[in-house]
Parts: sequence; C-alpha cells; structure tokens
Amino acid sequence: MKKDVYVSDPWWKNSVVYQVYPRSFFDFNDDGVGDLKGLWAHASRLAALGIGAVWLSPVYVSPMRDNGYDIANYDAIDPTFGSLDDLDDVIDILHSLGIRLIMDLVVNHTSSDHPWFKESCDPDSPKRDWYIWRSRRSECTPNEGAGPGEWRGDEPNQWRSAFSGPTWTWHEPSQSYYMHLFSPEQPDLNWENPELRQEIYAMMRRWLDRGVDGFRMDVINLISKPENLYEDGPGGLDRAMFGPRFHEYMQEMRREVFDAYPDRTFLTVGETPGATPDQASLTTDPTRRELDMVFQFEHMGLDSADGDKFHPKPLHLPDMKENLARWCRELEGRGWNALYLSNHDQPRPVSRFGNDREYRHQSATAWGAMLHAHKGTPFVYQGEEIGMANFPWESIDQFNDVETINYWRECVELGGQDPTQVWPGIVAMSRDNARTPVQWADLPHGGFGSSATPWLPVNPDYSQVNVSDQASDPNSTWCFYQTMIGLRDSYEILTEGSFELLQAEDEHLWWVRREWHGEILDAVANMSDEPYELALPEGEVLLANYPDAAEHRSTGVLRPWETVWIWR
Ligand code: GLC
Repeated sequence: MKKDVYVSDPWWKNSVVYQVYPRSFFDFNDDGVGDLKGLWAHASRLAALGIGAVWLSPVYVSPMRDNGYDIANYDAIDPTFGSLDDLDDVIDILHSLGIRLIMDLVVNHTSSDHPWFKESCDPDSPKRDWYIWRSRRSECTPNEGAGPGEWRGDEPNQWRSAFSGPTWTWHEPSQSYYMHLFSPEQPDLNWENPELRQEIYAMMRRWLDRGVDGFRMDVINLISKPENLYEDGPGGLDRAMFGPRFHEYMQEMRREVFDAYPDRTFLTVGETPGATPDQASLTTDPTRRELDMVFQFEHMGLDSADGDKFHPKPLHLPDMKENLARWCRELEGRGWNALYLSNHDQPRPVSRFGNDREYRHQSATAWGAMLHAHKGTPFVYQGEEIGMANFPWESIDQFNDVETINYWRECVELGGQDPTQVWPGIVAMSRDNARTPVQWADLPHGGFGSSATPWLPVNPDYSQVNVSDQASDPNSTWCFYQTMIGLRDSYEILTEGSFELLQAEDEHLWWVRREWHGEILDAVANMSDEPYELALPEGEVLLANYPDAAEHRSTGVLRPWETVWIWR
C-alpha cells in the first residue's frame, strides 16, 4: 500500500545504508587523509540523499597496515581521524538528521600492536590463550592430531592467508606459530576463550552506551576455527567459514550485548565470505536471535576465473540476475538480505559491470536501480551515488592496499610471473579503486581537502564527475539515487513485496517484479550498449534514468542502459 510515509518495524527494513570509508570521505583538517570532522561537515549532504544509516569503516587506533582493519585499541579513535569528542559530534549530528550510525566491529583479529597480542606473546601470560598459538607440526602431540599427510611443511597446517603467504607466522622467542587469516600484523583472536569473549562484549556495550546504533561485523563468520588445526589439506579462509561454534557465539553475543537494551532497535550486519543462502538464513532468521542480515559474496565472484579475484572475466548477466534472485527466494520468510554492489573492498561497479565511458550515468543508475529493486536492505558505498569509476592506474607504486601489493609481490617479484600478465587484473580489481578520495567538486584534489596532497590520488575525471555539480542537476546520478532512495518511504511494496525474476535467461534485459496487496512494481533495465525492443507494461513511471522516459515509452524501445520502475 502506498502510504505518505512508510516506516517499517524494524527500521532497517526500509532504510538505505550508506558506507563511509573515512580515510577517503572528506579531509577536514587538510592533512591529506579524511577524518571524522569531514563526515560531520557533510552529514547534511547525506541527509539530503535520504539514507537511514551510515556504516562507518574503522576509526579506532591502528597502525593502518590494513587501513584500520587492524585495531590496536578498540576504545579510542585514531588521531588521524580525530577524537572521541569528534565521534560524539558525528553521532549527534547524524541523529539530529534522523540518520543512525553503525560502527565497524573487527573482532576476528586485532593488530599485532594491540597490547593483548603483546602480552599474549609471553607463554606465561594469562592472555596467551586469547590468540591462536601452536607448536611446529613435527612437535605436535598425538592428541593434537596431525595426520600422516602428504604435506611436509612445519607450520601447523598449509593454509594460505587472504593477503598472500602462509596463515602462520613463527614467533622465535616463544618457539611457536600464531595464526593470521589475513596479514601477519593481524593475528586472529581465539574465540574459544570465554574471558576474551566477555571482554569483546563489554567493549561493544561501551559503544552502544555512547549512542551507536549497531555494528557491521568484519569477517564475522571466520571467528570459530575448526577444532583440529593440524588437519591436513590446502585451504585458507574457506576452512574457517561458519566454524563449529559460530552460531553459538552469535546467540551469546545477542544475549550479552544487544539484549541489555530492550528499548532500542539495533542493526547488525555480518560480513560473511562463503555464505550460502542456507547459512545466511540460519544466521538471520529472527527467531534464532543472531544477526539481522549478512553480506554474501557469491555475486562478487561471478566475474572472476579460477576463484582468483585478480583473474577477472566478463560477467554473464544471467548469472548475476539468477544469483540475486536466488538469494531473494531463499531468504523469503526465513531471513533478510543485505544488497550491495560495492564497498571499500570491491572495484567501482560502473567500471566493473557498466560502461564508464559512453554511458556512465545510464549504466551506473541501471545497476543501482536493479539492485535496489530486490528485496532486502540496500547499501550504497560512498561515491557510488555519483557514478565514481575505477582509477586509471599507471604503476604499482601508486597503490597503497596491502592485498594488492602482496599479491603483486607474490606473483611478480617472488613468483617470476610476467608483469604484463598480472597487471590488468590488478588494475581492474584492486581494492584501491574504491578508496580514491570522494570527488566533491571541480576544485583542486576534487575538493577532498584544500591544499594537502591526498593519501591516494584523486581520479582525474573529478571535473566532470563530482557531488557539487550533480546535486544541482536534476538529471544526474546523484539525483537519481536521491529519488530512488526516497521512494522507499512511500512504497511499502519495495520493502515487503514478493519478488520474481522475469526472462531470467535474457542476456541484456533485467526485469524484476514485486507484488504486494494487488499492486505491482516492475523494475526493468536494458543492461547493454545497444537498443532493446520491449513493450513496457502500463503504469506510472516512478523512476527513470532518461528524462523523457514516460514519452519515449510508446516507441517500444529501451535505449542503452535505460531503466524504469513502473508501478500499478
Ligand atoms: C574484511 C574487510 C577488509 C579487511 C579484512 C580484514 O574483509 O572488509 O577491508 O581487509 O576484512 O580485516
């Protein structure tokens, strides 16, 4: 039913969440790095876009080897970003604008600079067991259970870390290995230890007491490791996904943290690589009291070959359509979807899946419109709303990202691979594509700061693509996003309606249908550079990315990347 203002219960069902990666958002103090005051300064711009919540990537004290996903103090703000007072100001201004704030929670691992880890390096410390230490494979006791495998290395197992190299680093003073699924500077916490878990829950409560409205939980489905780490066989993250005690930990966290605030409704979203719809529904089924939603990764792997993200291949559109539809179907009535095409770890969707040259606006909005027509809570990553594109990289020295640099080193410097073969994958897929500064205006450095050189280069296309120009142009990508987000307030069908994918096999057309109490909403897009013949259904055009869409409809042709939402 169309209501004047539709507000769902819980609030996050009909909200759009906007992700801020603070290093690259806005540099208020002009030191070349974005900061909390920068978010404070642009909060009203986010309110104008109509979003319901901000997810703030980590701002805690960190040596920044993984740009804040390596935390050295969970209770303080890194001086690069400002202070706790600045964070309080951000919470206040967002709340005054009706926007919630969810923080990033990184508790699969800490930084190796965290005092817990430093203590843990001492085998006699009470915190020894807070991390995952193991002796050499050749020295492990029979009840640790190393089988007589093929592999002859002396690490406990042969897992590889997500950022290249083994999952284990040798610690000479204590003659043992510690585990890190990411870089050696990101040692994994041992969730088996009940004291550690209570310490984390107490820290989460402190943030909720401060006024934050929930958490995005970094690689949360990796926290429960297999019982026997000496098991044989290759692997890495995949061996730690949804481990034996994961659901138990999530239920405990719900009781120990969120249940302490019966009058507040939080948002919890878990980042869960390798999630299947079954695992996602176990995790998000409200009756099981774990998380509200999870980020799945299947659709992010459809354009890579051999499971290696740096080996991109063209997307076959029906795969994407079918994947997103399957998640809607399978979570229907069982859980809730988090919908996204981009974040700080993914290249820019308009470059990856659209046409960032001739059809920048049309393809950016077609992708946005089709994603937001699915059932779930959409997430918009900073810059997506103006169609920011991948950066035109020229040399490996321009990159900052640990994953990119380590991969290059492993393939080219250590592995002797031909650099010209490795380079195209780096350019297309590096996480730094998402991390170049937000283009605010046609000013030096894209208006990201005033005079300081930003920590990553600004995309040189900022004079054509920037927030300031787009916010005053009704036909811009920014205004399209604003209209699209605003429709959620009035059209309950977007939140509650059933979901159906039409013409699933078509390689150019994307058509989804939502239905709710006799209403129908069709979201249709021509996802190609060529015109597409289609007789559109009758009804009111709610959203379109060509200004004359309503008049043009009678021609029976969708122009390149044309998208419309039709309601009846
Ligand atoms: C998550 C984050 C990513 C980070 C990694 C390790 O995938 O999104 O940025 O590098 O976890 O914390």
